[in-house]
Amino acid sequence: MMHQDSGIAGITGKAFIITGGQRGIGFAFACSLLKAGAKVGVLDLPEKPDTAFESVQKEYQDGCFYSRADVTDQQSLYGALETLSRSLGGIDGCVTAAGICIDKPFEEHTWIDFQKQSSVNGAGTFFTVQWVVERLKKAGKPGSILMIASQAARHVCPGHLLAAYASSKGGVLAFARNLAVELAGNGIRVNTISPGYIATEMNLSLARQRPELHEIFQNAPPLKRMGTVDDLIGGLLYLLSDSASYLTGVDLPIDGGMCVSVSNGR
Ligand SMILES: NC(=O)c1ccc[n+]([C@@H]2O[C@H](COP(=O)([O-])OP(=O)(O)OC[C@H]3O[C@@H](n4cnc5c(N)ncnc54)[C@H](O)[C@@H]3O)[C@@H](O)[C@H]2O)c1
Repeated sequence: MMHQDSGIAGITGKAFIITGGQRGIGFAFACSLLKAGAKVGVLDLPEKPDTAFESVQKEYQDGCFYSRADVTDQQSLYGALETLSRSLGGIDGCVTAAGICIDKPFEEHTWIDFQKQSSVNGAGTFFTVQWVVERLKKAGKPGSILMIASQAARHVCPGHLLAAYASSKGGVLAFARNLAVELAGNGIRVNTISPGYIATEMNLSLARQRPELHEIFQNAPPLKRMGTVDDLIGGLLYLLSDSASYLTGVDLPIDGGMCVSVSNGR
């Protein structure tokens, strides 16, 4: 599936915007799409992306672009999307990976905590996708949209207190389902991935403050390990590719079996 020689229909030769792609899951996705022969335009918060991202950019000079943007700021977001789209010479879809997670008791959430998560995970996702869809429609092109939701939108995650985060990610699932139907007539497919406990800075920084989380990350999933970004790549390539051309509006939980064990109360 990952060979550049044979190519992956729907990915090789196409161009995708990735939000939050200078590190973590978004970065891993950018690398896989580049390896599969796609071009990527990444937007994220830092002025200069992570050094690992910079070395990939050197390797894929004509195929990998970066623009600083805050997805919660309309002007900043639209400016970066425009710049990246120009550099890419048009776009065929996007992956929304920009996200933040605040883990604390429900009563301790402030207005700002709630609004921050809603703006990054909710509005940032919504308006990125809206911009991309407008471009696809203007160009009369089909396309593929992939949003990163979360296992937190599907079940309660042991070890965490995620009332506001979960509600923002639940919004992403509902948004994606509605959009899938609204855009189906335009040949634009919309799907989501709901990752489980994946070893990125988002989770590892929480575990540095609460070491007991390591045990939960390893033992709560029926597959008895924490996930890695590599565990998500097959899903990314499948959902964006033409192999999934008859599939829209689905959520793919890649979570080591959490989706069935937690909902069954085990
Ligand atoms: N790591 C996990 O276990 C896990 C599980 C489920 C869902 N997710 C989701 O996957 C996505 C990627 O998370 P990750 O684990 O790679 O985390 P991460 O913290 O490593 O990466 C998130 C990226 O989003 C960027 N970002 C945050 N706020 C932004 C803003 N306002 N504008 C632009 N970019 C912004 C960050 O700078 C960062 O590069 C997130 O949406 C997260 O909620 C992660």
